[in-house]
Amino acid sequence: MPTRNWLQQEFGYGYDSGNVLSWIPGWVRFSEERRSGGSYRRIFNNAVRPYLHRSSKVLELGPGKGSWSRAILTCIPDGELHTVDFQDVTRWLSPDTYTGRLTCHHVQDNSFQKLPGAYFDLFWSFGVLCHNESASILEILQSARRTMKRGGVSIHQYGDWIKLEQFGWNRGGVPQTFKTQRDENIWWPRNDQQAMTKLALEAGWDVLCADLNLLRRDSLIFLRNP
Ligand SMILES: C[S@@+](CC[C@H](N)C(=O)[O-])C[C@H]1O[C@@H](n2cnc3c(N)ncnc32)[C@H](O)[C@@H]1O
Repeated sequence: MPTRNWLQQEFGYGYDSGNVLSWIPGWVRFSEERRSGGSYRRIFNNAVRPYLHRSSKVLELGPGKGSWSRAILTCIPDGELHTVDFQDVTRWLSPDTYTGRLTCHHVQDNSFQKLPGAYFDLFWSFGVLCHNESASILEILQSARRTMKRGGVSIHQYGDWIKLEQFGWNRGGVPQTFKTQRDENIWWPRNDQQAMTKLALEAGWDVLCADLNLLRRDSLIFLRNP
């Protein structure tokens, strides 16, 4: 299922996690937070905000309807956000209203070929790598590294089957039947901290932390471009 074709079609309706910064989460965010075992507001404030400054250049993979993009844009009044998605997200994010601060790249593969080299300070994604198989994650991490400044950092939520097992499959909203199925047939392919660390190292990143410990079901990896 998490083949490129499936990923390109599945989120055509525009995935929306709501406002990730509000004190009181909306219903969608509330139910997502319950399933993933963490607070989106806390993730933004602890894992993203500290690496942003007024003029940061940020690359976001898979913004969907832009829940995290909007939060990032509030922190970079003199910076730029570039998003990369299989969907045309301009219909949800209206880049024209951000006076050049937001560029949305509609892509068909993981090559990031239209993006500038050595340009970004931060590479971020949430709810994306958990749906991509390891070969695709490796491509993404390799392609993205070319676009990053030296010393730029990268933070990504990803599926972690070891944490999922402890947290509970039903509670986490992931069908137990996936355990007996191949990665190409499921929407939550196998991954864990060891496997993800291996992919990031193979792609040439320094792994600063395999999991920032902000979610009980999933992991967030923290990388630096050497
Ligand atoms: C589950 S939605 C998450 C949206 C948003 N990040 C959020 O958390 O609300 C996943 C998004 O990532 C996009 N996506 C998944 N894999 C991708 C890939 N390899 N390249 C580009 N976009 C991808 C999908 O099209 C979709 O818009």
